[in-house]
Formats: sequence, C-alpha cells, structure tokens
Amino acid sequence: MSSPERPSYYERHIFFCLNKRENGENCCADHGAQAAFERCKSQVKSQGLAGPGQVRVNKAGCLDRCAGGPVAVVYPEAVWYTYVDQQDIDEIVESHLKNGRVVERLLTPPHLGR
Ligand code: FES
Repeated sequence: MSSPERPSYYERHIFFCLNKRENGENCCADHGAQAAFERCKSQVKSQGLAGPGQVRVNKAGCLDRCAGGPVAVVYPEAVWYTYVDQQDIDEIVESHLKNGRVVERLLTPPHLGR
C-alpha cells in the first residue's frame, strides 16, 4: 500500500477507541475495549508483527462511532471493526493485520455513527 515517493512507516495501523464516559452514556470502555487493545498488542508482539514496516497498535479517544462500539479502525484500508471478544481480536490480527484479508463478519455497519 505504500508509494515509492512516500512509503508508509507502518504497513498497517490499528486504533482502538478506549473512551470512557462517566455520565452513563454508551462508550467503548464499557464493552471491553481495554482488554481488546491489550490482547491485540500482545498478539501482534508475540507474532513478531510489531514495528516499522509492519504493524502498530494504538489507543484512541472517541472515534465518534459509539453506536457501533466497541470499535477499532485499521489503516491504510480504513476498515472499521466492531468486536465482541478475544477470538474476534485474534481473527483481526491473523487475517487482516498479518495477511491483509478483511474480516467481513466483524465490519461495523456503515450507518452506525455516534
Ligand atoms: S466511545 Fe468509542 S467511538 Fe465513541
């Protein structure tokens, strides 16, 4: 996905919304976002996928798609995922982050925003 003029520092970059709302409104932090982020980080690291030219896993604040939460987004493809459990995270790592295959069953419905 990189161009010769401007190569991409990371091949893929995944951002997890870890936003926590204290006012009782829906937020990703109330749906296992922290555990999913940590699982993703540890899987990417243990599989040797982390680092320049490979994969980076980052925290994010609210990505404004709370209704589809918990969400994570992968660039450069700009693919949004809604996950439920650790198995979902493992599948995103293996299929998309490692092999570039989008996990269709976990795609965030396109109409879901905040
Ligand atoms: S709280 Fe996660 S997208 Fe808004």
